[in-house]
Amino acid sequence: MSNYEHRKQHHIELCLREDVVFPENCKHIFNEIFLVHRAIPGIRLDNVDLSAKFLGYELQAPIIIEAMTGGLPASRPINENLAKIAHKFKISIGVGSQRPILQSSFKQEVIDTYRVVREIAHDVPVIGNIGITQLREVSIDVIKMLIDTINADALAIHLNPAQEAIQPEGDIDFSEDLYYKVRDVVRELNIPVIIKEVGHGLSIEVLSKLVELGVHYVDTAGACGTNWAIVEALRNPKESVNYYVGLELADWGIPTPLSVIEARSISRELVVIASGGVWNGIKALKVLALGANLVGFARPLLKALLEQGLEGAEIYIKRYLTTLRTAMFLVGARDLKSTCKIPIVLGSTIINYLTQRGINPVEYVKRLRCGGYF
Ligand SMILES: Cc1cc2nc3c(=O)[nH]c(=O)nc-3n(C[C@H](O)[C@H](O)[C@H](O)COP(=O)(O)O)c2cc1C
Repeated sequence: MSNYEHRKQHHIELCLREDVVFPENCKHIFNEIFLVHRAIPGIRLDNVDLSAKFLGYELQAPIIIEAMTGGLPASRPINENLAKIAHKFKISIGVGSQRPILQSSFKQEVIDTYRVVREIAHDVPVIGNIGITQLREVSIDVIKMLIDTINADALAIHLNPAQEAIQPEGDIDFSEDLYYKVRDVVRELNIPVIIKEVGHGLSIEVLSKLVELGVHYVDTAGACGTNWAIVEALRNPKESVNYYVGLELADWGIPTPLSVIEARSISRELVVIASGGVWNGIKALKVLALGANLVGFARPLLKALLEQGLEGAEIYIKRYLTTLRTAMFLVGARDLKSTCKIPIVLGSTIINYLTQRGINPVEYVKRLRCGGYF
């Protein structure tokens, strides 16, 4: 097994076995977003429409199965099943980092662990994936070849400084030149580029610069779900410094709802995907109400799939969609476009945070949260 294969295998095992999630603080932030119940919703439950447009496709729901795996032999059946789910429910799907394709010099059996996603999920958006620091190592032509291997509809570039800082073999050079690497990729590709974190959130400072350089799609992957500092901590020897540092970063990062607000406050036109602990339909409606266009999740679906099989994973999605639909009914939101107009009340931690970040909370709730995307 190569280093990468070991690492990916280890990540999947740790995500299944250990409690690698953010602690209680995120629960608190989600609880501070109060959706106002409507006793006469003014609509029929069975008329609630979850459909969404994304990357030129009509989806049945505004959902992305977030990037997880590819490369090692064991990832093929995982990707196959995730793709079956994406196809069945007509939702988007991302593949895991495509770096192993580079490392294997485009070996066919490695490519096939990713290509299976496109083959099965042929009628939904499929999103490629590469780490931002890899942009230093590869030419645009090679990136285009990566995209072609899965006929991707968009390329996600992941930003993961906390993960790399704790990872035993991590890449710790996140210098300013990376902004310009992203700019070049955005300019040269003929598909959209999605900038995503992996679980520590995106801020105004980073996003406004990226938006200035041409980025139009962002995925918050905020600090509320899978915690990559903890995952990497557990890959270090127990008494090592990085083991402790990783655990001390247990609640580091921008909680997902706050990252959504930061992103949306930059531009109405930005396509904002909310992920990072958006693990049920109520949380989904909360971030949609804050201005996200789509939601994504990773670990709980993987866990359901590997512990309960395809049927268990499908049950997870069915519950998710039914909860989202029911919650939309209870606030009188007929479709996605209406979710950013439903009455919401924000708690004091969020108000305080927004005020100090230069965002007027009342203006935000009244006007700014609706993107122009739909
Ligand atoms: C097992 C596993 C592997 C992952 N691998 C990748 C990856 O290769 N590239 C990437 O951008 N994100 C990766 N992620 C991060 C997810 O795409 C997502 O951003 C993050 O887990 C937050 O979502 P969650 O809280 O719903 O898990 C991975 C997540 C999991 C659980």
